[in-house]
Amino acid sequence: MSTIALNLETDMVVLPPPVISPTAALLRALKSRRSSRAFLPDTLSVETLSALLWAAFGINRRDSGGRTAPSAHNWQEIEVFAVLPEGAYRYEPATHRLLLVKTDDLRGATGTQDFVATAPLNLVYVADFARMHEARADERSFLAGADAGCIAQNVYLYCAIAGLATVVRGMIDRRRLAAALGLAKTERITLAQTVGYPAAA
Ligand SMILES: Cc1cc2nc3c(=O)[nH]c(=O)nc-3n(C[C@H](O)[C@H](O)[C@H](O)COP(=O)(O)O)c2cc1C
Repeated sequence: MSTIALNLETDMVVLPPPVISPTAALLRALKSRRSSRAFLPDTLSVETLSALLWAAFGINRRDSGGRTAPSAHNWQEIEVFAVLPEGAYRYEPATHRLLLVKTDDLRGATGTQDFVATAPLNLVYVADFARMHEARADERSFLAGADAGCIAQNVYLYCAIAGLATVVRGMIDRRRLAAALGLAKTERITLAQTVGYPAAA
């Protein structure tokens, strides 16, 4: 912290320009990050969905295809599924589009807790083990879990700033959800994450 230097010749204090800390928003997000399990059923706007998915695992470097979350060996093996009332979609980062996977409302299949069926959005993080070719078989789950965790934290921070409630979830009937989403054998569900407007808990 600088001290005030009075210029005795002019009786004037030249103030430095006000600093709007570039880290303030991040610190605010970290301060309010938390898990919430009470959601209103209100749908999220497509603008919110867009920002949320980009924050989760979108492309932030066009030249290299780099993403907003790190991944082991830069495998980028996590596919983000958005399970909405109107259907289940796979997020395609390269085009920033949602591709329809199933037309059914699969929200209830994304977890074993009641709120998942009524919250407006459940993200499902699916690791494609086929992309993790250099990893030993016993390392794949571990690294995929870590990569999904980085994405989940991006979503937590976005939600903290956007006034949304969220909780990352491991309590999933993976066999049931994989069948509902029609996943391939090499695709493994790591985590899910519910997002919505907060209801009083
Ligand atoms: C890998 C992982 C799995 C989790 N699974 C669940 C879950 O299935 N259901 C749930 O309600 N919360 C789940 N949570 C959220 C934790 O319970 C929560 O982060 C913890 O209680 C701390 O609370 P906080 O996030 O508000 O700090 C999980 C968190 C992590 C990191």
